[in-house]
Amino acid sequence: MRIYDIIKKKRDNHQLTKEEIEFFVQKYSKNEIPDYQVSALLMAIYLNKMTKEETAYLTEAMMNSGDVIDLSKIDGIKVDKHSTGGVGDKTTIALAPLVAACNAPVAKMSGRGLGHTGGTLDKLESIPGFSIDMEVDDFIDAVNKHKIAVCGQTAKIAVADKKMYALRDVTATVDNISLIAASIMCKKLASGANSIVLDVKTGDGAFMKTLDDSFKLAKAMVDIGTEMGRETVGLITDMNEPLGHAVGNSLEVIEAIETLKGRGPSDLVELCETLGSYMLVLAKVADDFDDGVDKIRDAISSGRALEKLKVFIENQGGDKNIVDDYTLLPQASEIIPVKSEKSGYVSKIEAEEVGIAAMILGAGRETKEDELDLSVGIVLNKKVGDYVNKDDVLAYIHLNNMEKYKSSEEKLKNAYKITDEKVENSKLIYGVVT
Ligand code: URA
Repeated sequence: MRIYDIIKKKRDNHQLTKEEIEFFVQKYSKNEIPDYQVSALLMAIYLNKMTKEETAYLTEAMMNSGDVIDLSKIDGIKVDKHSTGGVGDKTTIALAPLVAACNAPVAKMSGRGLGHTGGTLDKLESIPGFSIDMEVDDFIDAVNKHKIAVCGQTAKIAVADKKMYALRDVTATVDNISLIAASIMCKKLASGANSIVLDVKTGDGAFMKTLDDSFKLAKAMVDIGTEMGRETVGLITDMNEPLGHAVGNSLEVIEAIETLKGRGPSDLVELCETLGSYMLVLAKVADDFDDGVDKIRDAISSGRALEKLKVFIENQGGDKNIVDDYTLLPQASEIIPVKSEKSGYVSKIEAEEVGIAAMILGAGRETKEDELDLSVGIVLNKKVGDYVNKDDVLAYIHLNNMEKYKSSEEKLKNAYKITDEKVENSKLIYGVVT
């Protein structure tokens, strides 16, 4: 078999076989095919697309290009949750202890953030002492003992995907549904969960900007999961404005804790209830969706989820006192209000612009090498549907370096659209794919 022939076949819009896909994935992960040939193949895939079968073969080959974690020593059905990434998406930090408090094991391997969306690991690392580095055996022990552990994906998971994602990033081949679906699912499958709940974000702050593409991506991922014998559910959820109010690492941790204290923003609470309920149903600890929602609500009102968060933080070396004293988290030196220049209704808050405004402050990474400032970010004071008077505070910028203020403020002001007419709030959950 020759890589040249595989490129030519895909260029001419023919379907690749399982063997051909395995061949190039294996060879590429062992550095036996140069980047320029894989770039050409990726572009051919991008232009001619992949069938459902090809996508499944690609996922499986990438999953097998690295370690495949065996979580069978953990009692119960392990359900993972994955979000395709959104601005202010701190869901995992609230959801993991919520689901664990309902007795479903949460064994989660997460990633870091790149660009305008932050990663769960970065957010968790704003908790002093918290470590995301765990050996697999410790990870398994933690879940058996406490029902919860979150660690970083090791470099050995889905080796081919790591190389291919970096290549896609610089060859304009990221936004292809098969390539995204295979890339996300190979890591989820290699991380060992039995069942998977996918939160596919849709809207201007998401990877997928249109509902149609978001449904297609959810369907592609659900098909892969099902094909690989994992019960998989995909939810399409809104990312036309940031989730909740806080955008930035320690600020988002605070908002997640507030959610567990029963004081979370309505959109984040609804998302936790919905995703959490699906997770509990898949883990077979809830009878149906309504029972799942009841259980999640009870975990909040009883304080069990908050206690579980403390146990989780302590077990991973973090200071659990942050739960009761937010001043123990990284704090920005300045908090500056951004005021509205006119009166009217907030009709839109462009999530991507808010994400970029936070990234400028140091809350997100422009390149992989960038150091984050875990204390900085933005807290939205007004959300879509709210009425504002001229000079009302739209948002607060938390920052340490005044030189970054102007460009962040400009992005933030551009993100807010104020109109005379009140617009309908967008839905949070657009649909479920099974
Ligand atoms: N996230 C991934 O892990 N892979 C993609 O291709 C896109 C988003």
